[in-house]
Amino acid sequence: MDTEDEEEANGKMAMTMDDSSGDDCIDRCEEECGSEAWRIACCSRVGRICIMTIFVIFMYLLLSALQFSEPAKLGGEPEVRQGINLTRAQEVLESLCDAYDQGKVSGDSCNRLCFSRKWTITDYYEGNKIAVIIKDGGQNAVYKSSKPFFSQFPQPDFSMSNDDFSNKVVDLINDELRLGWPKHYRRHLMETLWPTLLRTKGEEMSRADRHSLYSLISQPEFILFRVLPLTRVTPKIIGTCGHLYQTESLVAFRMKGYYTNLKAKILVHLMGTLKLLYEFLDEPLQWCDVRFDNLGLSADYPKRFVLMDGDMVYTRSKLNSLLEGRPCQNDEDCRIGDCTSRCTANLTCSQRSNGNLEVFCEKLVNKLFNNNWSKNNKYLTACRDTGRNITQRLNELRLAWSWNLSDV
Ligand SMILES: *[C@@H]1O[C@H](CO)[C@@H](O)[C@H](O)[C@H]1NC(C)=O
Ligand SMILES: *[C@@H]1O[C@H](CO)[C@@H](O)[C@H](O)[C@H]1NC(C)=O
Ligand SMILES: *[C@@H]1O[C@H](CO)[C@@H](O)[C@H](O)[C@H]1NC(C)=O
Ligand SMILES: *[C@@H]1O[C@H](CO)[C@@H](O)[C@H](O)[C@H]1NC(C)=O
Ligand SMILES: *[C@@H]1O[C@H](CO)[C@@H](O)[C@H](O)[C@H]1NC(C)=O
Repeated sequence: MDTEDEEEANGKMAMTMDDSSGDDCIDRCEEECGSEAWRIACCSRVGRICIMTIFVIFMYLLLSALQFSEPAKLGGEPEVRQGINLTRAQEVLESLCDAYDQGKVSGDSCNRLCFSRKWTITDYYEGNKIAVIIKDGGQNAVYKSSKPFFSQFPQPDFSMSNDDFSNKVVDLINDELRLGWPKHYRRHLMETLWPTLLRTKGEEMSRADRHSLYSLISQPEFILFRVLPLTRVTPKIIGTCGHLYQTESLVAFRMKGYYTNLKAKILVHLMGTLKLLYEFLDEPLQWCDVRFDNLGLSADYPKRFVLMDGDMVYTRSKLNSLLEGRPCQNDEDCRIGDCTSRCTANLTCSQRSNGNLEVFCEKLVNKLFNNNWSKNNKYLTACRDTGRNITQRLNELRLAWSWNLSDV
């Protein structure tokens, strides 16, 4: 799987912090001017232009990185990523809109998506899921699904009564999230999943509605993004059409060169995300695919990263249901991504044995701060202080959060 492509397609523009841009210029100066490069550089015209260019590039990188802002692309043609199969993307959208025109699918995004069918597709990814990015009135619209075509999804039993259908939906959601959603709240759940119901109180869902919703809830990422927005670390769902869901468009966070003065700011963003994972209901949300590549920035949230990819995010009960009792030979068999558990004496896996904090430290914080960390920073000591066990460190971290990150 090509993760680079997937990330591009998941979010959109990459915000790159790269400090190599000025090197060429310096090299050329040094080649041309020898050891006295700097003195000559200050006097010669070429040298001054070099210095100006480096300065401008540096300021640009610094400012764009500091504000975490999207690179300004004012006017001009929208940029289409090279090497994508536009024919395929077109085919996926055409087939969905054909089904919409025939009344087979529905969703609150369909009208807009299928109105003119003149899409400016800027990105398309197809792998373990698909993502299409369309430029729509100056904005990026991101559509995702686990499979390209509506016909690839299961059909519900259309003879079910409305209540039976709702109960079936609650069962499927409970099976996925293991949060034990009570049946008597099913109307609320249905309205969360299919917001059109809020406007058409009492009306039954049409066949197209049911079929579309059914295709959506067979996709774990849709369920996570739609049902658990209270996590506040997943992208919002803006609308759906058939089996496609439109997510909030994020700026992918890329880190290449490390600017020391940015690290503190990145650390605060990481802590915001970690805090919200731990604060989710009674049970922390488990993130098993922890990478910088998987972090996005949302315009709405100044102090946290958003998880761009929901494939390996689980409620604790769900994760333990996947791990516990799984047959194993050794601990390696008891691992789901970054989430580990132990192979017990009776050769079945235990519950998750590590926590979000350990993985954040190992995969993100320690990478960012290498060996250079300060005892005064409570966030860093949570990762480095080996004198105390993880429970104590987490408790101290919670205290620091409640002082410094109460408003995340
Ligand atoms: C692009 O997609 C079309 C339609 O699915 C397919 O026929 C074609 O082989 C694809 N091209 C490439 C280069 O993959
Ligand atoms: C295996 O052992 C664990 C405790 O070590 C226990 O909870 C679990 O039920 C056992 N599983 C089986 C299949 O015996
Ligand atoms: C460590 O960080 C301090 C500031 O926090 C900085 O002055 C110093 O240069 C850094 N050292 C290394 C080796 O990066
Ligand atoms: C928390 O806030 C205090 C006071 O505002 C500050 O001195 C301290 O450095 C902050 N801690 C972290 C880890 O940012
Ligand atoms: C961590 O240390 C505390 C106090 O020393 C102790 O009560 C607790 O059981 C320890 N937790 C773990 C997971 O070892």
